[in-house]
This record gives sequence, structure tokens and C-alpha cells, in this order.
Amino acid sequence: MIRQLVFVLMLSLILNTLAFAPRAAVARGGGRAAGLSMMAKKKREFPENPVAVVTGASRGIGRAIAMELGKAGCKVVVNYASSAGPAEEVVNEIKALGNGADAIAIKANIGDVGEIRSLFGEAEEKLGPVNICVNNAGITNDMLVMMMKPEDFTNVVDVNLNGVFYASQAAFASMMPKKIGRIINVGSIVGQIGNPGQANYAAAKGGVIGMTKAMAKEFGGRGVTVNAVCPGFIASDMTKDLDTSALLPLIPLKRLGEPHEVAGLVKFLALDPASAYITGHCFNVDGGMAIGAT
Ligand SMILES: NC(=O)c1ccc[n+]([C@@H]2O[C@H](COP(=O)([O-])OP(=O)(O)OC[C@H]3O[C@@H](n4cnc5c(N)ncnc54)[C@H](OP(=O)(O)O)[C@@H]3O)[C@@H](O)[C@H]2O)c1
Repeated sequence: MIRQLVFVLMLSLILNTLAFAPRAAVARGGGRAAGLSMMAKKKREFPENPVAVVTGASRGIGRAIAMELGKAGCKVVVNYASSAGPAEEVVNEIKALGNGADAIAIKANIGDVGEIRSLFGEAEEKLGPVNICVNNAGITNDMLVMMMKPEDFTNVVDVNLNGVFYASQAAFASMMPKKIGRIINVGSIVGQIGNPGQANYAAAKGGVIGMTKAMAKEFGGRGVTVNAVCPGFIASDMTKDLDTSALLPLIPLKRLGEPHEVAGLVKFLALDPASAYITGHCFNVDGGMAIGAT
């Protein structure tokens, strides 16, 4: 009798479980689907005054980028290696805009991982989590391959490639919790088409383009886009000694670019809602140079 009762009880338990299982599964599935659609609907947005780190912002293209982001109301970290005075000038110009923008100058060698980590630590402490990182700092040390010493090669790679890796890693760590961020790497068309005397620079800039794509794939799931902007020849200290008469015939637009023309694209990729679905791409700002001589 007891054995029969136990059997009936077990049978009814099994039947109940089977009867409710599909409904429970639907309920669980439905819950997850609802959760996902809630997530999809939840809009991730930057704060009103996003925090932007711009490496190498004391001069040239970096300075123009810092100013553009400042004009858009960002709180800008103006990084520099040795030009403390010019970096402070950029800070003061941004603060004087009176639009809610803010700025601080931080000295750090982009090629030194320790200095980069403390830069991001200081930026977070003083301005808040980083929303935008523009890896702009760069150097040249031109030499024909047969005369290039190992240190001439590695110095350029340390700053122009390793530095972009260190800063992107630190920036992503700061962006990850909010699941939104923009990383913009300043490459060069030399990383695509090469240039005699610039094997070191071409290697580093070509590496930046590849790294941009790899990081875009890794960071996309966390709402962080990664793109590269590749200038051609832009008027700055880096190009001031070049013989432009030899260069201009190679540029369809027959002039050097201006720093603000690079900065405008960086601002679009950093802040414009229309850029939110763009990641892993490399945009040339080169007067048409990379398409070849006309
Ligand atoms: N100008 C062009 O035609 C051209 C073309 C293609 C790509 N680019 C790229 O665009 C970026 C900016 O170039 P630019 O023409 O504006 O150069 P620039 O006028 O020579 O300015 C270089 C900037 O990078 C900073 N910097 C250099 N080494 C650094 C380091 N180790 N750590 C931190 N900051 C460092 C400099 O800081 P200090 O003032 O403190 O030295 C300065 O702010 C570079 O990545 C460059 O390769 C330029």
C-alpha cells in the first residue's frame, strides 16, 4: 500500500514537471528576450561634458584635436612629452571657451607604459572616467634602411605603435564599466603605401591600422568603437622642413592639409551620433595622395 502511494506521488510529480516544463522554459526564454530588448532600448550616452584624452596635444594636429573637442564641451587631457608651456596654452584656451569645457595638461611619455597608466589614473581622478581617447602623439626619425640603427627603428615603434597599445588598453579599462567609448588612432598613409627613409615609421603606422581592426573586434561588444584616421602630409612641425615642391605633384588637391582638417574628422568619430555604428575603419585625410599620382 505504502509502495503504491509513493509510486503515485512520484508519477504525479514527474507529470507535473513535464506539464509545466515547456511553460517554464517559455517564461525563462521570454524573460531573457524581454531583458535583451530592454538592453537594446537602453541608450548608452556620454555625459554632457565627455572626458577626452588627447596624446601629443601641445602642438600640431593634436592641438587642433584638443581645441575641437574643447569647443564641443569636452573635458580634455592635454598630454605632452616636453612642451609644458604650449600644453598649458592649450589648456588655458579651452578653459577660456566658457562652454562647460575643461582641460588639464599631463606630461607623459606615451612610449612608457608606467607613465601612460599614471596619466589615465590622474585623468580619472581629476576629470572622471575616460570616454574618448585620441592616440595622436607621434615622432619621425627618418633614415634609409641601410643606415638605420636598431634604436632608430625601436624608438619610433615605441612611441608610434607601443604607445597606442598602452593608451588604448588603459582607455578601454576606463570605458568598460559604462559600456561606451571612442578610441581614435592617428595613423598615416605611410602605413599603407610606405615611404623611402621611413621604414620605422611605416612599420609603426601600418601596425596601428592592424591594431585598430583587432581592437575594434575585441571592444565592440562593450560599446567601444575603434577607428583610425590616416593623414597624408599636414602642415605642422613634423613636415616644416620637407621640400613641398617635390611633394605637391603627388597630391591630387595640390596642397598640404591643415591640422583642423584632421581634427574635424576626429571630432565626428568621437562625438557625432552618426558615427556610432562605425568601427574598425581607417579614414584617409590626405588630399587624395594614397590613390596615387595624378
Ligand atoms: N604632419 C603630418 O604630415 C602627419 C602625417 C601623417 C600622420 N601624422 C601623425 O599625426 C600625429 C601628429 O603629428 P603632428 O604633425 O601634429 O606632429 P608634431 O607637430 O611634431 O607634434 C607631435 C606631438 O606629439 C607629442 N609627442 C611626441 N613624442 C611624444 C611622446 N613620446 N609622448 C607624448 N607625446 C609625444 C609632442 O609633444 P611635445 O610638444 O611635448 O614634444 C607633440 O605634441 C602623429 O602621430 C603623426 O605621426 C602626421
